[in-house]
Amino acid sequence: MKSITAVCPGSFDPITFGHIDIIKRASSMFDKVIVVVMKNADKVSTFTVEERLDMIRKSISDIPNIEIDSYNGLLADYTKIHNARVIVKGLRAVSDFEYEFQMALTNKKLNQNTETLFLTTSAEYMYLSSSMVKLIGSMGGDIRDFVPECIHDFIISRLNGKGSK
Ligand code: PNS
Repeated sequence: MKSITAVCPGSFDPITFGHIDIIKRASSMFDKVIVVVMKNADKVSTFTVEERLDMIRKSISDIPNIEIDSYNGLLADYTKIHNARVIVKGLRAVSDFEYEFQMALTNKKLNQNTETLFLTTSAEYMYLSSSMVKLIGSMGGDIRDFVPECIHDFIISRLNGKGSK
C-alpha cells in the first residue's frame, strides 16, 4: 500500500487547540503528517519562527506520525520537496472559504500532485483564532481554554512584553 504524507501548514502564531484538533485528526488519517510553520504574507507575526516551533513541539509531543518543520518559501514547493500528496487545512466558517479556496486552486496549479483537504473545525473551536488568543492575552484575559497549559505562561509573558523579539 502507498504511504501518504500530508502537510499541515500554518503561521501558528501561536498554536491553539483549534490547530491541535486538526493535526490530531490528520495524524489519524495519514502515514506521516508534517506540521510546517510558514510565512503568511498578510500577517505580521508576534512570535519568532523558533518560538512557534518550540510551542508546537511542546503542544503535540503526544501525537503519533508527526514531524515539525519550518519553511520560508512557497507551500507548493515544500510539498514537492517532501513528496507530500495532501495539504490539510481547517475550515472554521464560510468567511474562511473564499481565501482558502483561492489558495487551494493556486497550490494545485503550482503542484498538480498535491490535493488540498479541508477538515471542518470541531464545533467548540469554530470561533477560535491565534489573533483572538493574542488579543485576549494581551488585555489580561484568560486564554487557558484556548492554548495548552505547557505554553500558556510563555505566551502570556511574551504578549506582555517579556522575553525575546
Ligand atoms: O495559519 P495561516 O496564517 O492561515 O496559514 C497560511 C499559510 C502560512 C499556510 C499560507 O500563507 C502559505 O501557504 N504561506 C506560504 C507561502 C505561499 O505558498 N503562499 C501562496 C499560497 S497560494
